[in-house]
Amino acid sequence: MPVNRTTSAPELLLALARDGAVPLRAQLEAQVREAVGSGRLPAGMRLPSSRALAAELGVSRGVVVEAYGQLVAEGYLAVRRGSAPVVAAVAERRPQPVPGAREAAPRYDLRPGTPDLALFPRRAWAAAQRRALAEALDADLGYPDPAGHPALRTALAEYLGRVRGVDADPSRIVVCGGVAEVLALVARVLRARGAVRLAVETPSHHATRALLTHHGMQLVAIGVDEDGIDVAALAAADVDAVLVTPAHQFPTGVVLSAARRAALAAWARRTGALVIEDDYDAEYRYDRQPVGAVQGLAPEHVVHAHSVSKTLAPGLRLGWAVLPSHMAAEVAAEKRLSDLGTPVLEQLTLAAFLARGELDRHLRQTRPLYRRRREALLRELPELPAAGSPAGLHVLVGLPDGRAEADVVAAAAANGVAVEPLGPHGMPGTGGPALILGYSRLPEAALAEAARRLRAAIAR
Ligand SMILES: Cc1ncc(COP(=O)(O)O)c(C=O)c1O
Repeated sequence: MPVNRTTSAPELLLALARDGAVPLRAQLEAQVREAVGSGRLPAGMRLPSSRALAAELGVSRGVVVEAYGQLVAEGYLAVRRGSAPVVAAVAERRPQPVPGAREAAPRYDLRPGTPDLALFPRRAWAAAQRRALAEALDADLGYPDPAGHPALRTALAEYLGRVRGVDADPSRIVVCGGVAEVLALVARVLRARGAVRLAVETPSHHATRALLTHHGMQLVAIGVDEDGIDVAALAAADVDAVLVTPAHQFPTGVVLSAARRAALAAWARRTGALVIEDDYDAEYRYDRQPVGAVQGLAPEHVVHAHSVSKTLAPGLRLGWAVLPSHMAAEVAAEKRLSDLGTPVLEQLTLAAFLARGELDRHLRQTRPLYRRRREALLRELPELPAAGSPAGLHVLVGLPDGRAEADVVAAAAANGVAVEPLGPHGMPGTGGPALILGYSRLPEAALAEAARRLRAAIAR
């Protein structure tokens, strides 16, 4: 049995009542039994010596010696002559994993949502982490500025201005746990202002719509065509705000046309309504330079929401909002009320990562890779019409008329391929049948095989 050797006695969560109702020795035994039985004290862990524990608990050494003796006799602890007892393996019961926390991975996962997590730049991230920790001031480890650490906000302002054409002063940036949190905080500010009518694109991500409804927004559906959201329909809808994905509409993949971008910015200026720009995967465009953010056209009318979820990894939960000046303080106040701020060492790591040019390097490496993966997938699906521009990490493909999405999803699953139907992302009765295929997670050869299996499932 391995023994965990530590240089100091472990801290044990033991508390003895001194009201005389239960003898101290019995209390001590019961608490150690419970801690060992529940797995809180794992097998091999060395307990404090009887002398040390007695001093810590303020009891006589004899109480601890007798309790340890009883627990050894019962098989909870083991002793070697002259040394402190260790937790015995026979008594160990590890905490059970949370049921359902991880579903079995499909053989070929074509669902959208994440970049290739195997490409996460671990080495560069670890170097940035080391640097962040080495250079953090003691004061940085106190409660953070709820709007985000100034070093990260400064680095983001530079990055977003350069890469996305965002007009980003650090004073108008609030660092959050991803686009999802930006939307939650902005929705709460809008609701406090009595501005609850929010337009959303149709189709749009169902989880995003659920989040916005949860935070009190009344959603108004506006259609999307090959030029992006229908701005004329939006203007007629009498809403307080709109959520758009202009760089690469989710899930159709269309890019908001230049005329519509101008019309959207003009509408926001004219009416005072707020545009929320979800720029989730905008760094990935394969046929030309990405179009700049709409925020650059009307910084006082647009919230720019963005994160590292599509470029690095969603598990980092790091994102940000660039806000109009009339909202920045209110959103930061909501962030403070929510959780007092984003973890500082993560923020400083991202700041160092950006400052070292690592995100630029990672994008330069992954862009051609994802472009080839998209091509490898679509090459094997010549009959399925692909919507939108070559961009992002997913593509919407139409299914043959009469093929129900649910049937194709089930047949593909039987062939080892997980795919996402358009259905849940549309409003009832709109669009489809179609699939949203993510091509970021698999290498080209696997994508080609997955596509062949999917094709067979469709033909069945
Ligand atoms: C269109 C769109 N916006 C936002 C998000 C959420 O992003 P984040 O991880 O930054 O909260 C997703 C996640 O899949 C998405 O697809």
